Amino acid sequence: MTGDDAFARVVPVNTQRPYKVHMGMRVLAQMEQVMAVEGLVPSRVLVVTNPTVQALWLREVEKGLASLPWDVAVIPDGEAHKNLKSVSSLYDMLAGLEFDRSSVVLALGGGVVGDVAGFAAATYMRGIAFVQVPTTLLAQVDASVGGKVAVDHPRGKNLIGAFHQPVLVLCDLATLETLPYRVYAEGLAEVVKTALIGGHELLQFAGDHADELLRRDPSVVCSVVEDCVRVKASIVAADERDLGSRMQLNLGHTFGHAIETSCGFEGVSHGEAVAVGLVMAVNLGVQLGVAGADLLHHVEHLLSRLQLPTTMAGLHAHVTPGAVRRNLRADKKRRDGRLRFLVPRAPGDIILVESVPEELISRVISESARGSAT
Ligand code: NAD
Ligand code: GLY
Repeated sequence: MTGDDAFARVVPVNTQRPYKVHMGMRVLAQMEQVMAVEGLVPSRVLVVTNPTVQALWLREVEKGLASLPWDVAVIPDGEAHKNLKSVSSLYDMLAGLEFDRSSVVLALGGGVVGDVAGFAAATYMRGIAFVQVPTTLLAQVDASVGGKVAVDHPRGKNLIGAFHQPVLVLCDLATLETLPYRVYAEGLAEVVKTALIGGHELLQFAGDHADELLRRDPSVVCSVVEDCVRVKASIVAADERDLGSRMQLNLGHTFGHAIETSCGFEGVSHGEAVAVGLVMAVNLGVQLGVAGADLLHHVEHLLSRLQLPTTMAGLHAHVTPGAVRRNLRADKKRRDGRLRFLVPRAPGDIILVESVPEELISRVISESARGSAT
């Protein structure tokens, strides 16, 4: 890896067809060299991005693809465009330019661009190679690794998708410097989730360096992104097709999704909903008697230090206990009419609890609505 060597990291992802996550500072301009290190010499490259990221970072990628033929496809910015219309525009471009299986789709952007470009790559000519170049914290620590690619349908988020692992992930930490704070914070919520899944050490490190994380200190961000990628890589390698243990990556998302749905996915960001959902999941663990109150305090304190909400109180007028309870009933993890919840027993020890008593769920929701999880 070139760029600033102090930040160079490589994390292997041992899926059926293994690949590597290369990280570094200002490494977009070294794209071709990194590809070559991974034995990737595409006949041509379609860079998929959106107008926001194009304006900020495409010039760096342009430097990095100096001797490879490449084109750029720009899809509109935002979750509202994570749909088949955007994918179809990519098919038109790939077919029009006669891309084939020796070509590569390169996703330059956050999770939306990665999911859309990845789904197009998974399905064009029954699958061509794709490279993830994640430019948000959320995409670097989560979405770019693991091969889940999908678009939304009016009836549900990520309803149309595939498993299609990238052939390479290149994380340039410099791209995080241009993120609006709210978008960066979305990633911090996933960092706390991953730390809870990963274990004591990562949770402790995030807590000890919360201020540096907030101000995007490069060496702390580098260490945290690397550790989160390692946690995700090991979970994905153990359960690539999401048949069991990979489910733990949804920690906090059951309550979080019910909160987002309550306000129609507006007014509360995904990261804020996940932050509150994490506290509720830990509180449920406490109520069930499997987690200690000290873990709950620790997670609340860490999220507060990262300026993320910890309770439903004051989030949005539509986030009421009744609405959250109703929306929980629609959760994907529901089985035979019973709600199932992921709860931590301790950092690094996440369990799936079947048939949680309704009164405990109600208590967790009411406490969060009142503004106290404890
Ligand atoms: P996003 O892709 O919408 O990006 C958020 C905003 O940041 C956008 O406006 C984008 O243009 C802008 N942006 C991106 N990089 C930037 C940069 N470097 N500087 C300035 N602005 C920048 O949102 P996200 O949070 O990255 O991803 C959310 C999506 O990821 C959701 O659709 C979610 O379903 C998906 N996701 C997928 C997986 C997976 O495993 N595939 C996992 C988690 C989330
Ligand atoms: N982000 C959840 C997963 O990759 O499984």
